[in-house]
Amino acid sequence: MPQKIIIDTDPGVDDAMAIFFALRSPELDVIGLTTIFGNVHTELATVNALRLLAIAGRTDIPVAEGAHDPLTGPFEGPVPYVHGDDGQGNVNLPPADNRAIPQTAAAFIVEQVMAAPGAITLVPIGPLTNIALALRLEPRIAANVKNVVLMGGNALVPGNASPSAEANIHNDPEAADIVFGAGWPVTMVGLDVTHKTNMTPEHLDAYAQADNPLAQHIARIVPFYRAYFERSFSGVKGIYVHDSSAIAYVIDPTLFEVERWPIRVATQGISRGKTWPALPGVTGPAWEGRPLVNVCVGVDADRVVALELDRLT
Ligand code: RIB
Ligand code: CA
Repeated sequence: MPQKIIIDTDPGVDDAMAIFFALRSPELDVIGLTTIFGNVHTELATVNALRLLAIAGRTDIPVAEGAHDPLTGPFEGPVPYVHGDDGQGNVNLPPADNRAIPQTAAAFIVEQVMAAPGAITLVPIGPLTNIALALRLEPRIAANVKNVVLMGGNALVPGNASPSAEANIHNDPEAADIVFGAGWPVTMVGLDVTHKTNMTPEHLDAYAQADNPLAQHIARIVPFYRAYFERSFSGVKGIYVHDSSAIAYVIDPTLFEVERWPIRVATQGISRGKTWPALPGVTGPAWEGRPLVNVCVGVDADRVVALELDRLT
């Protein structure tokens, strides 16, 4: 039976790739998208999620709009220099005809998880605000979810939104600390593995050659995103595979090497947004009693890239 998943997303170019990757994978059944700020404001994330489902011919999948700001303060703002003003590489898509459902992201997550105990996997690929709000709304989702596989964090490597922090965590560190402390099955697919997974220009060319509307959309939106990587990270050609790495983990966890560590998220000072693991033998009061998290520390990058290209091209 395909795994039922809810993707919480801030589309976003790599979010679009991950959503399409999931839609084209028979192992997965995408039962909903929930939207969050991050790459764009939440309202635009919702419009983009609706547009992506229309491109994929899957307007049967519900979209529930999420929080417009982090738990403890205003959203710091989008990153148009990475994903475009429209969050889709400035390709200026037509408006979506389909509409979001009249339920918040948190309420949708709670309703779906509690209606199918042990069956739903949450796949957050943006800031974790909606997931924290869902836990506040109904703490029992921690005991009823099948799995939480999130793209975010950086355990043993530098950040990408600051020297300390990865973008999704940096956008709502308080929410992330709640998510990593809820005592449910969480897997962190962070920069430790996504910065080892490079989709080269040759890989990216495959999308333009593929005769399907999902690959064609990716071929249109990825050049803007690729240009960001190639001017920002010396020596990088192509893109790093961030959000799709979380989808690859849900499909085949054996593609990754994981360690089980308690995680705390810094919320103050220059480390704000840093995910700090307590490694064996070195702990402290802030990590006492914290649940263990699956932290991805290794990846068969070639197989992750091959899996995504196989599904989409
Ligand atoms: O750090 C990468 C993450 O930030 C990805 O989810 C990307 O879409 C952005 O949201
Ligand atoms: Ca994202």
